[in-house]
Amino acid sequence: MKIGKKVRFILLMGLVLMVSACGANETGSKDSENNGGNEKKTLRLVTDAAYAPMEYMNGDQILGFDIDLAKAAAAEAGYELKVDHVGWDPLFVEIDTENADLAISSITITDDRKMSYDFSVPYYASSNEILIPEDSDIQSGADLTDKVVAVQKDTTGHEIAESILGSNHKNIKPFETTPLAIQELLSNGADAVIADKPVVDEYVKNNSQQNLVVITDDSFEEEFYGLLFPKDSKLVAEFNEALNKLFDNGKYAEIYKEWFGKEPDIEVLKAQQ
Ligand code: ARG
Repeated sequence: MKIGKKVRFILLMGLVLMVSACGANETGSKDSENNGGNEKKTLRLVTDAAYAPMEYMNGDQILGFDIDLAKAAAAEAGYELKVDHVGWDPLFVEIDTENADLAISSITITDDRKMSYDFSVPYYASSNEILIPEDSDIQSGADLTDKVVAVQKDTTGHEIAESILGSNHKNIKPFETTPLAIQELLSNGADAVIADKPVVDEYVKNNSQQNLVVITDDSFEEEFYGLLFPKDSKLVAEFNEALNKLFDNGKYAEIYKEWFGKEPDIEVLKAQQ
């Protein structure tokens, strides 16, 4: 039947068009490289917005030092940003699958991660610290060997806990987020939390009635945060240039002061390049 064949052909063509339309990304990710016109390209940035003051949710807004910095760097490099809160482990998956163009999330530049991802130049110097109740007898990392330690899963804090107690030790409690690890400490399910300095400092400052204190262990190494990209992303060089411009034109210092109330030490960051 002739008509039947025609109808089938039209349906088939419709299907082909639909499928190819689905393949095109609205914003960012795989297709963001080819955007002929003058319009600014939009990149998709993913984060774990449960890490105040670096990245956190305020209603449905994503705020924080990292977010302001990423937006400034993107603007400098000539991009718009679409920021999505996806969570910590998922953000690496989004980058692995190139469903996102970049991530910012206080991500420490480590040799291990460098095998699978590209990083920007360092934009923040940090270290892990130990959060404990005021009346705890813990004085350093070495005192944690017979304690229960809560951490955010797959972070450098988790690695430090494993280096002290042993890999997969039963006294290490890994959580999806850092706030959940802190919650475990507050409900007496853990004796300490190991997490990044800016985050535990901010937590103690904002929750003084909980009688928690932060201790520093000098044996915990200095860490540097970088923007995370898929391996061999063309964006790395563009964002490095943008970050260096922000270091030099005062914009980085402005954002830093806004969030931390003091001057940054840009030379420490530059010395790492
Ligand atoms: N700096 C640590 C790491 O890279 C922890 C970062 C966690 N960030 C977050 N937004 N939850 O492993």
